[in-house]
Amino acid sequence: MPHLLVTGGAGFIGTNYLYAHATQHPEDTLCVVDALHYAACLNNLQPLIDSGRITFIQADICDKTLMQQLLADEDIDVIVNFAAHTHVDRSITDPAPFVRNNVAGTTALLEAAVAVFVDGKRGGRFHQISTDEVYGSLRLDEVPWDEAQPLQPNSPYAASKAAAEHFVCAFARTYGLEVTLTRCSNNYGPYQHPEKLIPKALDCLLHGHPVPVYGDGLQRRDWIYVSDHCRGIDLVLSYGQPGAVYNLGASCELTNRELLQALYAALCAIFAKRPELVARFPESFAVRAAPFAKVIQSAADRKGHDRRYSLNCTKAAAELGFCPQIGLEQGLSQCVLWYIEHENWRQNLI
Ligand SMILES: NC(=O)c1ccc[n+]([C@@H]2O[C@H](COP(=O)([O-])OP(=O)(O)OC[C@H]3O[C@@H](n4cnc5c(N)ncnc54)[C@H](O)[C@@H]3O)[C@@H](O)[C@H]2O)c1
Repeated sequence: MPHLLVTGGAGFIGTNYLYAHATQHPEDTLCVVDALHYAACLNNLQPLIDSGRITFIQADICDKTLMQQLLADEDIDVIVNFAAHTHVDRSITDPAPFVRNNVAGTTALLEAAVAVFVDGKRGGRFHQISTDEVYGSLRLDEVPWDEAQPLQPNSPYAASKAAAEHFVCAFARTYGLEVTLTRCSNNYGPYQHPEKLIPKALDCLLHGHPVPVYGDGLQRRDWIYVSDHCRGIDLVLSYGQPGAVYNLGASCELTNRELLQALYAALCAIFAKRPELVARFPESFAVRAAPFAKVIQSAADRKGHDRRYSLNCTKAAAELGFCPQIGLEQGLSQCVLWYIEHENWRQNLI
């Protein structure tokens, strides 16, 4: 019976992961650590805490002594490290918290893992959640990245995630720690902090404010529904080769403009089916079915903005049977419905 330590579990992907894992693996125990920084929402986890399905501890992964004690006391044999600062724009204005939490935090957790799993001869796996942003930026005429591509991060956020990866690999090589890594593309779905593109755009669309679009809006990203990412992580934990890196993406590459157009179409389709939404959101662009060109507004581009991310995921497909199940239309529709039904959740966070 695996005993998991899930860090950053009160954030967007961690929350989704915990609900999915708790249901799909009822035999596993789940210990959750989160420092409850600004992007966290402990309320997300309350049903899991109340039902005794998870044990929640407010703690910082930088606290090596506490992490080591937790690993020992809770009999942990799998660490899934989601904990990080994640907003690229914040990393540009203030990189230091990204070095502290993403690099030093991961390193402290690795040291705790070595002390208990390797030195303590208990055995155990360290799984690092990483991102496609570590690869840098692709031109349109270049093929998608596979896992052998060198890391060439551009933003301070991506640099901190790449540095964390290097420490994970160094700990595997130097101390014999068993590790796996996943590099995933852009996630969307329930519980995402309102500073991120999709929740932010939805908020604008629902309240009749034009959606700010960086530069020409032609930056390309691959979009994966968060439940598909979570399933990919569990496939790696079950079947991934120790020491291996796996790309997890959905082969759903869109420019930011295309993504926003699809999001607006999903919102309009939901308003068309649910006339009661007009009274709840009278200012929404969807009420007037405004043309797409009227609902977006150009904003100054992000400094050093990467042009394109694209992943080759054939390794995860061949070795793990990884195959995303939620297409863009379905995913956006589910996502829009969730944010409409959880309007208060978002307001409490802002
Ligand atoms: N969101 C995406 O599209 C995406 C894509 C690929 C990879 N990732 C990676 O997935 C992970 C989770 O991303 P997210 O979008 O859920 O982020 P998020 O910002 O929503 O949540 C991160 C969580 O980590 C916690 N945390 C931060 N520093 C901590 C520390 N020192 N100790 C304990 N907890 C700490 C925060 O309180 C927060 O709850 C990150 O490692 C991120 O790099 C995200």
